[in-house]
Amino acid sequence: MPTILSLDPVARQTWSPVALSRDLKMGDRQAGVLLGEEIVLWRGSGGPHAWLDLCVHRGVRLSLGKVVDNCSLRCAYHGWTYDETGQCVAMPAHPSLKPPPKAKARILVCQERAGLIWTALESPQAPVPQLAEEADSTFRAIPCGPYVSAAGAPRLIENFLDVAHLPIVHEGCLGMPDRAEILPYDVEWRNGRPFAGEIRIFQPNPEGLERAGEVSYEYGVLSPFTVYLRKRLADGKCFTLLFAVSPVSAVASVAYFTVFLNYGDPADNAGIATFQDRIFAQDQPIVSSQRPEKLPLDLAEELHLPSDRLAIAYRQYLRRLGLTFGTA
Ligand code: FES
Ligand code: CO
Repeated sequence: MPTILSLDPVARQTWSPVALSRDLKMGDRQAGVLLGEEIVLWRGSGGPHAWLDLCVHRGVRLSLGKVVDNCSLRCAYHGWTYDETGQCVAMPAHPSLKPPPKAKARILVCQERAGLIWTALESPQAPVPQLAEEADSTFRAIPCGPYVSAAGAPRLIENFLDVAHLPIVHEGCLGMPDRAEILPYDVEWRNGRPFAGEIRIFQPNPEGLERAGEVSYEYGVLSPFTVYLRKRLADGKCFTLLFAVSPVSAVASVAYFTVFLNYGDPADNAGIATFQDRIFAQDQPIVSSQRPEKLPLDLAEELHLPSDRLAIAYRQYLRRLGLTFGTA
């Protein structure tokens, strides 16, 4: 559904994942919405592309068209054909006419990282959020999603940073109600973003691999809508979860996880992804019911406990950035 366009420069300059890499194969195209703007994604031999979903001739959605010869996108209406730079190179009604330079699709930045395709509506001020695990060949990556959610990106991100809900919402998986106490923890600021190095919690089945134990979580905020947690287990084993939310509108999102693991069997990958699906499904009714739907950045709104320290820091971070999108 077309939604109200966000003009918030902070949000528009933020990298957002818009598809799983594996869902956009060579020659594929698909439609999406980012911050109320309709976009088309397609993959040619030059890689994935993200453009505004609009043919400059008569405004038809380019996502109705098709990829030709893995090197161009052809509009479904009059067949204008755009190459991988977005330039129109053919107008079938006038085969001998060289398309003017103005006949160009509106192209966006596009990169592939952590099994996801990322874009932004305006030139981002920072690189795509990245974790050390991505460059470490001892880790394997398991991208999960997309999860369509009737919650705004700030609410979803804050929920990911909320440790006290784990034993309640994810009872039996990520915690137990009778061991729900959150011990004091510290939040520091790294490069202007909140970071919590050690939050201890008991978990009956922390990775979906049926191993109970007390675990220590490290949490970090990478950008307004991308965060991670890292669990260091015995023997150098590490479980890291990248959580990235793509804001569709102020109150609707598409979320993605990429799990990074340096242990276990790749045969477990499907089971681990299914486990993440289950965890996200448990969060869905909670986050989509939160009112106000937009995250209040004034700390006088809502009530806060010491266990909410990381969520409070996230709200302060968004406020410092001047993010108005999805916040109140
Ligand atoms: Fe796209 Fe005419 S609207 S070719
Ligand atoms: Co949760």
